[in-house]
Amino acid sequence: MKDMVTADIQQVKLKFGIIGNSEGLNRAIDIAIQVAPTDLSVLITGESGVGKEHFPKIIHQNSSRKHGQYIAVNCGAIPEGTIDSELFGHEKGAFTGAIGERKGYFGEADGGTIFLDEVGELPLSTQARLLRVLETGEFIKVGSSKVEKTNVRIVAATNVNLSQAIIDGRFREDLYYRLNTVPIKIPPLRERKDDIYLLFRKFASDFAANYHMPPIQLTDDARRVLMTYPWPGNIRELKNITEQISIIEKKREIDAATLQTYIPLHEESRFPTLVPHVGGRQGGGFESEREILYKVLFDMRSDVTELKRLVGEIMSERKAGGQTAPSSAVPYYPGHADVQLMTVPVKPVPATIDISAPVKPPVSDVQDTDEHVKESLSLDDAERELIKKALEKNHGKRKSAAKDLNISERTLYRKLKEYGWE
Ligand SMILES: Nc1ncnc2c1ncn2[C@@H]1O[C@H](COP(=O)(O)OP(=O)(O)OP(=O)(O)O)[C@@H](O)[C@H]1O
Ligand SMILES: [Mg+2]
Repeated sequence: MKDMVTADIQQVKLKFGIIGNSEGLNRAIDIAIQVAPTDLSVLITGESGVGKEHFPKIIHQNSSRKHGQYIAVNCGAIPEGTIDSELFGHEKGAFTGAIGERKGYFGEADGGTIFLDEVGELPLSTQARLLRVLETGEFIKVGSSKVEKTNVRIVAATNVNLSQAIIDGRFREDLYYRLNTVPIKIPPLRERKDDIYLLFRKFASDFAANYHMPPIQLTDDARRVLMTYPWPGNIRELKNITEQISIIEKKREIDAATLQTYIPLHEESRFPTLVPHVGGRQGGGFESEREILYKVLFDMRSDVTELKRLVGEIMSERKAGGQTAPSSAVPYYPGHADVQLMTVPVKPVPATIDISAPVKPPVSDVQDTDEHVKESLSLDDAERELIKKALEKNHGKRKSAAKDLNISERTLYRKLKEYGWE
């Protein structure tokens, strides 16, 4: 494969800041370069955090459309009620609030490229409109009867299994085949082991340069831990963990024991069957329901631990500030306590949130923490606090907050609506 790493591939990596030299990554970049000059639709698949978002840009930039518009649409973030209008435009008065006419992305991107991220989240009615525009280049604005023409190239991405969505009746099979004219699969990090250390070094040195400090380094043992961890959150998770260690650890040489405190599932070494890549398995996926169940249980345990810490921290902060008001008194996000925690996907609390494990509450409050945790173990309150924190951290940007929370933007949107925080 090494001789397949052409100058073009290297150039793309440099231009887009892509680190890694594994066969799977090089192959994916190579396909993107080859398919770019055509108008074929491309479907990019891969787990969350593998780096899918680089690929539509590579394709657009290497195509004859590069001087045309490039519009990235997060299909999971747009409410169902407005998605057709956003994509295809609407006529004046098409619905309540449609005071003016709107062109829509398919009209605007004529001659360019549209990136449909999280395409599996598109409502079925929108899927029908999308299929039509892909097949004939025709679309109709909401509230209009006039057929319009556009010439748009579609690159779509998903981290969900669309075959399952088809079986469940949530995704049209004909649209799947139309989008998937050229598939590009980005392999998970655990199948690109040689890239793990390269990425770690890059993130450590970027962080060090930004904050004017020496970069962290790993002992040999720590390096082995880094390489054998399955990285379910892929490069996003690796980046977060590298940054956390860079900030929190005073020493710059990190040993295995220290590294393990930052890796959420390091307990799994006691349960070898939990590690999908151990034992020469192919494909990197979970191969039995039992493994998935174990994973969910560990994730839940990790969630509960994080929630306890979070609640403890919040209570400590309140105590320190003499604040006794409930969370609904916090400015900007007045809300209600009637939220069902069960509706949040069970995933580890993302490492980017400042309240991550290694941050200890102020010493003076430690003895009170347990008591407060007991008092405030209302999970729905904790959920709202978590969402509030994520929004504050991301300066109100829902997309980034949803990413931090590991939920879709649509779920976040729905929750904000439920709380009355819109
Ligand atoms: N090869 C790489 N080199 C450097 N940084 C990378 C690489 N791949 C991904 N990243 C970084 O990792 C983070 C996650 O990547 P990205 O947002 O593309 O993930 P994704 O596949 O779209 O995930 P999701 O399905 O959750 O949206 C981004 O900050 C991205 O810049
Ligand atoms: Mg993405």
